[in-house]
Amino acid sequence: MSPLAAVLLSTLALPCLAQAPGQASATAATPPMGWNSWNHFAEKVTDADVRAAADALVSSGMRDAGYIYVNIDDTWEAGRDKHGNIQTNSKFPDMKALADYVHGKGLKLGIYSSPGPKTCANYEGSYKHEKKDAAIYAKWGIDYLKYDMCSYGNIMDKKVGKPNAANAAVRLKMDEAVYQKMHDAIAATGRPIVLSMCQYGWDDVWKWGDSVGGNLWRTTGDITDTYARMSEIGFGQAGLAKYAGPGHWNDPDMLEVGNGGMSQDEYRTHMTLWAMLAAPLLAGNDLSKMTPETLAMLTNKGVIAIDQDALGKQGDRLSQEGQQEIWSRSLSGGGMAFALFNRSADARPVTLPLASASLAAGTKLHDVWADQDVSTDGGQYTVTVPAHGAVLLRSNP
Ligand code: GAL
Repeated sequence: MSPLAAVLLSTLALPCLAQAPGQASATAATPPMGWNSWNHFAEKVTDADVRAAADALVSSGMRDAGYIYVNIDDTWEAGRDKHGNIQTNSKFPDMKALADYVHGKGLKLGIYSSPGPKTCANYEGSYKHEKKDAAIYAKWGIDYLKYDMCSYGNIMDKKVGKPNAANAAVRLKMDEAVYQKMHDAIAATGRPIVLSMCQYGWDDVWKWGDSVGGNLWRTTGDITDTYARMSEIGFGQAGLAKYAGPGHWNDPDMLEVGNGGMSQDEYRTHMTLWAMLAAPLLAGNDLSKMTPETLAMLTNKGVIAIDQDALGKQGDRLSQEGQQEIWSRSLSGGGMAFALFNRSADARPVTLPLASASLAAGTKLHDVWADQDVSTDGGQYTVTVPAHGAVLLRSNP
């Protein structure tokens, strides 16, 4: 470590935790579900779009299926008034009124900021205004904050240099401190606000996100609406299961289901994989223009039940043979979920042998998407999985 890094490290004492790790679990006892504006609307999102999303969550039945957070992403911010209070821009004329509207529908409102001076889309960030911003969010009635590293990365670069082996420890401390600072600012408001950490998986955030009060943390860079990127992210989550649990979740990014860039089989893989990963389910499509297929995919009860399982145990890869792989997940009550994936560009058979899945002979399996029991005669189940597709099975003891 360089002498400068050592000095900085010694001066960067973390502020006291307002709540001990794990105590955040009541805030996100299961992975958060809802909608976020970014994947479809990006910089264009307006108050009217957010209200339309809230309306659609109710009228489509998504709210009742569990999708309760309505999350405004980047580009709602203006500058600050002379007292340093954050202002909304003309796209969001009255945030408190919007929160009241969303709450009136039995939903919760989420917002977005950065620990840096600027957000990723170059809007006003929370740097040096964390307490004020948290207090204003609480006053508006905000229930969820996505806190996105963005320009704080440049501040770290300036202070200690671009990431390298010598400054890794001091960068980690700065990364931890900046999230804990906002956690403490939120805790001081007394309002339960889910803290969603977005720093793209830097510094192995899954190892410490919980200890600074994060309820979820992005494990990767941004998703795009392509099978290549979605599957790269989703299958790349292997090995992270042990870091997730009630109140603190790995976040492989928001859903692209319904945005049009993938086939139905590929979107089915997306939902199946996210459910196996106990991932937050934040729809990223235009809810006011959904097809019945998209709605059915987002609201499949059996898939949501696996994602939201009360045990909160994330799944992991069980086996892999070429481009076919099986993932498993333990469920509350002794059940198990198994996802059979075919990552090749042609339909392929995939076999789940009961013994290798630690299932007793005669165990019954239910195909969740098809909503039918399947035969395990012969001690195994074989199914043809479409190209880039998935089959999701559930066993109950
Ligand atoms: C990115 C983030 C995206 C979105 C965007 C907004 O850094 O990963 O999910 O929030 O910023 O500018």
